[in-house]
Amino acid sequence: MKALMMTQYGDVNTSLAFQTVAKPQISNNQVLIKTHAASINPIDYKVLRGDMKAFSKLTFPAGIGRDVSGVVAEIGSNVKGLAIGDEVFSRVAEPYAGTLAEYAVSDADHIVKKPNNLSHEEAASIPLVGLTAYQALIDIAKLQSGEKVLIHAGSGGLGTVAIQLAKSLGAFVATTTSTANVDLVKRIGADQVIDYKTENYLNEVKDFDVVFDTLGGNYTADAFKVIKMGGRVVSVSGELDGQTTKNLGLSFFIRGLLALKARKVTKAAEQKKALYRFVLMSPNGQQLSALADLYVANTITPVIDSVYKFDNSVEAFNSLVKGRAKGKIVINFVD
Ligand SMILES: NC(=O)c1ccc[n+]([C@@H]2O[C@H](COP(=O)([O-])OP(=O)(O)OC[C@H]3O[C@@H](n4cnc5c(N)ncnc54)[C@H](OP(=O)(O)O)[C@@H]3O)[C@@H](O)[C@H]2O)c1
Repeated sequence: MKALMMTQYGDVNTSLAFQTVAKPQISNNQVLIKTHAASINPIDYKVLRGDMKAFSKLTFPAGIGRDVSGVVAEIGSNVKGLAIGDEVFSRVAEPYAGTLAEYAVSDADHIVKKPNNLSHEEAASIPLVGLTAYQALIDIAKLQSGEKVLIHAGSGGLGTVAIQLAKSLGAFVATTTSTANVDLVKRIGADQVIDYKTENYLNEVKDFDVVFDTLGGNYTADAFKVIKMGGRVVSVSGELDGQTTKNLGLSFFIRGLLALKARKVTKAAEQKKALYRFVLMSPNGQQLSALADLYVANTITPVIDSVYKFDNSVEAFNSLVKGRAKGKIVINFVD
């Protein structure tokens, strides 16, 4: 089958190539999906760049892409409730990354049937960012109706889902974006929009319950300036907290180094008696199913920046790397 493969650590122009590779084999608990659409995420180019080398090293060539929507082509003997020909979507687990290929493998419990009112392109845009928003806002921040949440980068792939999910929970949502995207984030429900080109969010929000930090850098420690005492800061781009480094099974030495790196954030959290957690999203079929229900009910609508043909995937990655996507960048395998 044809697949876009990572050939070495590097950038998207020098280290990706289309190759003919063997169709993946599935185990008893897995499903082979004929890919109709995939979507791309910053983690794809971050892994390619070597950002995760310290945690897990790649063997090349390696597949790229984690989100897929398509049709069940083969089913493992233990899999119940799915049949060949079913339309499904999934965020595949890390060992099976490689959805930019004619076929993708997913564990059955990470797969959900695609709702009829969503196209494959729309379904492929959901899993990684949808699950991240779910795990950050619901599992960790435990965002409640009536609470105030600041969501950074509201116009991105993650932000566009996070805003809509937070609104569905009944929260007041403030978000940061540039002038060009103010209308977009208002349209999907943001109550307060801070245009970072003309305003400093630190002057615009105060005593919030939750900050969802999608930007990292100074944004992580500064989040504690805008939350109330006892508030919560959840980050997907900032420093790793002690609980997360422990859960990841990192060595005592690496955990020590990461704790040192996170000391500014830890101190800021202590001063505000606040919760700080880094969220590393994980595939989860039950949560994906709950998200699918929100899309079926039109509580959340997909926001798609652009669709590229599979042959033009490198172009798609060049666009993603610029960091200016308005919603998700999707790859179409069929039309
Ligand atoms: N830990 C995890 O499990 C996990 C999971 C998902 C995502 N992430 C991380 O979360 C980050 C966001 O992901 P994504 O999929 O949303 O990426 P993305 O789609 O590439 O984000 C692009 C968006 O970011 C906005 N943006 C960039 N700089 C900004 C700033 N200073 N202030 C406000 N908005 C800004 C851009 O808006 P403008 O053009 O208006 O600036 C654009 O709309 C990435 O770093 C990703 O790796 C982590």
